[in-house]
Amino acid sequence: MATKQKMVIQGGRPLEGDVRVSGGKNASVALIPATLLSDAPCVIENLPDIEDVRALVDILRSLGAVVDYDPGVEMRVDPRPVNSFTVPYQKAQKLRASYYLMGALLGRCGHADVAYPGGCHIGLRPIDQHLKGFRALGCRVEDRAGMVNIEAGQLVGNVVNFDMATVGGTINVMLAAAKAEGQTMLINAAKEPHIVDLANFLNSMGATIRGAGTDIIRITGRPRLHGTVYQVIPDQIETGTLMIAAAATHGDVTVHDCIPTHMESLTAKLLEMGIMVTDGGDSIRVRSTGPHRSVKVTTQAYPGFPTDLQQPMCSLLTTTQGTSRVEETIFESRFRHVDELRRMGAKIDMFSDRVAMITGVPELYGAPVTVTDLRAGAALLVAGLMARGETEIYEPGYIDRGYEHIEEKLRSLGADIRRETCEE
Ligand code: EPU
Repeated sequence: MATKQKMVIQGGRPLEGDVRVSGGKNASVALIPATLLSDAPCVIENLPDIEDVRALVDILRSLGAVVDYDPGVEMRVDPRPVNSFTVPYQKAQKLRASYYLMGALLGRCGHADVAYPGGCHIGLRPIDQHLKGFRALGCRVEDRAGMVNIEAGQLVGNVVNFDMATVGGTINVMLAAAKAEGQTMLINAAKEPHIVDLANFLNSMGATIRGAGTDIIRITGRPRLHGTVYQVIPDQIETGTLMIAAAATHGDVTVHDCIPTHMESLTAKLLEMGIMVTDGGDSIRVRSTGPHRSVKVTTQAYPGFPTDLQQPMCSLLTTTQGTSRVEETIFESRFRHVDELRRMGAKIDMFSDRVAMITGVPELYGAPVTVTDLRAGAALLVAGLMARGETEIYEPGYIDRGYEHIEEKLRSLGADIRRETCEE
């Protein structure tokens, strides 16, 4: 009989103590493909040891790159032996960020043949803006049978005016434009911290990218980029998930090695709810003793409230005083955690696919629940930690895609959480 895994949590214990945040997932999955643009080996430090990183190592090796990966220490990529520009379906569908191989391979080979990406099912997630950007740089793009075939004789810089601030589109076009002839201007660019991190990484390889973190990015293409040694930024969403878990369990947790300025929209909401948040420069302390007030949360592009924290935030809001309103403006179907939270006693009414009204209940109780996507997994972890009794979380593999050693980290804060194998 086939076996699968589940996480088992005995909830109701306040999280207390100190924890270190890992390197950023969404920064790492952009930096690793970016190494292909270099003419010499690159070393990246502080990468999280997560499934998405392992999947990218596999893709880079299949393209011919030599990758030495010592999880928790560093990754060294030598892109010089790359001899393929094809990323087939079986590899691309393992993660969303496989689409960054398009921009990176275009920059390296002038050609990319990459299957449509996988990733969490949280909405339609088209990539028309990426392709529009590549076309603006002079590429011929053919999109058929699940493969995107992109060819550029010579990439030539241009103005790319995005129809919406897209994280993936901004990163992908930035990758290709770093090697284009002349200047590229990205208008209505996304401003997330990992976009700034990628620009810093590319600049450390000799690229010239200005304005990352604002909505206009200027890239002067360079024919050659050199190797670098670079440390990826801390994970904004892991930091936020740990902050939310601390608050939700009425605990007292200090999250170390994070960047508090990346957390301002969450910090503001927690303060509004009556939770104490202290900025320690490169750490954040979250303490909660009393009851929590209800709030309104609307997801927005950075620096607004991140969509990636909407789901764990819903769990925190299940036991507030009064009714909270949560609106998801980025993705069409990012409320698949709601049915699972209801199993645990949460009172949540959906007013459309995009708006949840959460009326606080005195407490959640443990129940068997199933993860449907990465941040739904984070929501169920938080709910399991809050709940009275035992919560079984099925399909924990989604959580492993984005959170490094999460059980160990939570156990170090006093959580009773373990992983078990179980029969199908
Ligand atoms: N969009 C389009 N066309 C495009 C690109 C985007 O219509 O060509 C739409 C999307 O459908 C969505 C919105 O624009 O409605 C924003 O999408 P964006 O491109 O910004 O998101 P993404 O690149 O698909 C990245 C992260 C997500 C994170 C979002 C928003 C990676 C690998 N993924 O996705 O991370 O939620 O930005 O911040 O960086 C996660 O970590 O759990 C996760 C889903």
